[in-house]
Amino acid sequence: MKVLGIETSCDDTSVGIVEDGWKILGESTHSQIQTHRRFGGIVPEIAAREHFEFIDEVVFDALDQAELSLGEIDRIAVTYAPGLMSSLLVGVTAAKAMSALTNIPIVAVHHLRAHICAIQLNNPQLVEFPFVCLLASGGHTQILYVSSFEEMKLLGGTLDDSAGEAFDKVARLLGLPYPGGPEIEKLAKCLDFDCDVVFPMPKVGEFDFSFSGLKTFALRKVQALSQEDELSECQKIKIAYAFQERACSELSRKLIAAATKYNCQNIVISGGVAANSRLRSLVQAHELNVIAPDLRYCMDNGAMIASAGYHCPDVHGMDFDIKSRQPL
Ligand code: KG4
Ligand code: ZN
Repeated sequence: MKVLGIETSCDDTSVGIVEDGWKILGESTHSQIQTHRRFGGIVPEIAAREHFEFIDEVVFDALDQAELSLGEIDRIAVTYAPGLMSSLLVGVTAAKAMSALTNIPIVAVHHLRAHICAIQLNNPQLVEFPFVCLLASGGHTQILYVSSFEEMKLLGGTLDDSAGEAFDKVARLLGLPYPGGPEIEKLAKCLDFDCDVVFPMPKVGEFDFSFSGLKTFALRKVQALSQEDELSECQKIKIAYAFQERACSELSRKLIAAATKYNCQNIVISGGVAANSRLRSLVQAHELNVIAPDLRYCMDNGAMIASAGYHCPDVHGMDFDIKSRQPL
């Protein structure tokens, strides 16, 4: 079965064509990073306009790569939530227009479910269930017990900022460009001296997270250090390193604790923050079966939406209303 997946929930206009939930036949993405960088974050109105400008080009490009015509597609999968409403509407409207032209059924996909299905991309082996999953992106941070791609239970989540948001905000304090996660990771790798900065450990429930205190700690540190002069490169490196250590050790510690409590050998990390190499190595240090998507499929992409459209079919005509869809 060939599914065309459309992702427009945030700042990527992305389409992937995936066969049987794993085999990528074609994909195309227009990234808006350069557009939003000058604002230090995503501007929703501009994001929606840019999706609108590029959506058709990205669809045709993905079809060309797959050497398919729209008529050869079996399903159109589209992100309906969560995300920026005006951006989601561009993808959903494009899906409805294509469905109206061709009678191809639409599958409404929950973005977070798709981040989990991303582990199946480029991987013909069926994933072993159950697993405990850390889903850490720019919008969400959750630990889930996943019995199948359709059945999952929330064990804990962030009480304030998401992990990705915290990376982005600390990066901004350090004068680094958006998105901040990869920039913090790059800077932290430059540490080749002793680090005397230690971020406090957030005190929250068993599988919950809190990142706003880390952000405030970074702000106070930057203010204290830059009272007279601008922050030196060495000070920036220390803050980036110490923040990453605390954020990643929190994420990894709670994920491993959940896997232990639920006696689960399989763990999955997914979402943009799962691209972080320090997080990956902390999680991999335990004797557990760790599954993570290929680096590029940790980030938002249309292929993961297509995979979810295959694995979690919630098939519609054109009549679905994105406001009434159920949460994860
Ligand atoms: O999953 P994603 O592409 O979009 C959302 O669904 O939000 O995640 C984007 C987030 C951003 O906050 C970005 O800074 C973060 O993932 N991110 C990282 C890394 N690469 C992306 N965070 C830490 N380390 C990275 N290497
Ligand atoms: Zn995402």
